[in-house]
Amino acid sequence: MKVAFYDAKDYETPLFRRYGEKYGLTFKFLETKLNADTAALARGCDAVCVFVNDDVNAEVIDRLSAEKIGVLALRCAGYNNVDLRHAFGKLHVVRVPAYSPYAVAEHTMALLLTSVRRIHKAYNRTREFNFSLSGLTGSDLHGKTVGVVGTGKIGKVFLEICRGFGMKTVAFDKFPSLEGVEYVTADELFRRSDVISLHCPLTEETYHFIGRETLPSLKKGVILLNTSRGALIDAEALLEGIKSRIVGAACLDVYEEESDLFFRDVSGHILEDDVLARLISMPNVIVTSHQAFLTEEALEEIAKTTAENLAAYFKGEPLENELCYNCGSVEECRKKRREKCF
Ligand code: NAI
Repeated sequence: MKVAFYDAKDYETPLFRRYGEKYGLTFKFLETKLNADTAALARGCDAVCVFVNDDVNAEVIDRLSAEKIGVLALRCAGYNNVDLRHAFGKLHVVRVPAYSPYAVAEHTMALLLTSVRRIHKAYNRTREFNFSLSGLTGSDLHGKTVGVVGTGKIGKVFLEICRGFGMKTVAFDKFPSLEGVEYVTADELFRRSDVISLHCPLTEETYHFIGRETLPSLKKGVILLNTSRGALIDAEALLEGIKSRIVGAACLDVYEEESDLFFRDVSGHILEDDVLARLISMPNVIVTSHQAFLTEEALEEIAKTTAENLAAYFKGEPLENELCYNCGSVEECRKKRREKCF
C-alpha cells in the first residue's frame, strides 16, 4: 500500500522506511506540506500521512476523498489541524495518542531551567571566552508555585518533575483526574502561579487561553511555558505582557503562526513576522521550533504506531487510535473500544 507522506524530514524518513518494510507500506516522501494545492500529490496513493502543521481543512479533505484516499494518519498526538467534523464519513483519521510524554515534559523543564538559570546567555558568553557573571543571576525553582493547565499524559509527568525540584503545584483541567493534585479554577491558578505551563489541547475553548483579558490576572513576573499548541497564547498580548513586565519570561516551543516557519531553515530570509521577531529579540524569551517531541524514543514510537495504524486499516482490523468529532466528547462518543468511528 502506498502512503503520501507530507512534510517529510530527514530525522524521520529512515525509521518510516524501516517500519514500512515491516508492515508492507511504501512511503512517498514529500517535502511540501499538505494543503489544497498539494493534495493532488497524493494521487495514486492509498493513504496520507501528515504532521502538526499540515492543514487538513474541509477543502483538503474533499480533494483527498476525490483521490480515493480512505485514511489519514497523523504522526502526532494533537489534531487541531484536522476538520474532524468534515472528515466524518469520508476519511478515517488515526493518530499516535501517546509516544513519549517524557520527551515533551522534560523539554519543558529544560526550557524552564535554561530561562531561570540564564543558560542560553552563559553558553554564548563562554564560547567567546567571556567568563563574567554579570546579568546571569537566576532564581531557585524550589519553593516556587507551578500551575499546570491540562493534567493529561504530559501535564502529569511535568507535575512530577516539578515536585522533584521541590516546587509547589496547582492545576487546572476541564476534566480533573489525578489524585493528590490541588485543582483550582483558571483564575486562581493565574493568581497563585510563579510558573504556568500549558499542556491542554488547542480547542475553541482554549484558544488564546492566555490573552489580553487574562494578563491582568497573572502574578507579576510569571514565567509562561508553552510546549502544547501556539494559539493557546495570544502572541501579541504576550509581547505586551513582556513589555509591561507582567510576564517575567516566556519559553515557547510552539507559536501561533508557526506553520510557515517552524521545521525549516529560514535564516537566509527576511523574517516577515514582526511579532515573532520581537519576541525572539527579548532577553527573557526562549523559542524552540516545536522540538519538544524530538527524542529517539519518541520518533521510534511515532513511526511504529503510525505504521501499525495504517496496517490495521488496510487489513480491515479495528482502529484503536481512530478519532472523529465525537471522540473525546464524553457524553456523545459512540465509538466502542476497538471499533471504527464510522
Ligand atoms: P492528553 O489528552 O493526555 O491531556 C490533555 C489534558 O488537557 C487532559 O487532562 C484534558 O482533560 C485537558 N483538557 C482538555 N480540555 C481542556 C480545557 N478546555 N481546559 C483545561 N484542560 C483541558 O494530552 P497530552 O498527550 O498530555 O498532550 C497535551 C498537548 O501537548 C497536546 O494536545 C498537544 O497539543 C501537545 N503536544 C506537543 C508536542 C510538542 O512537540 N511540542 C508533542 C506532543 C503533544
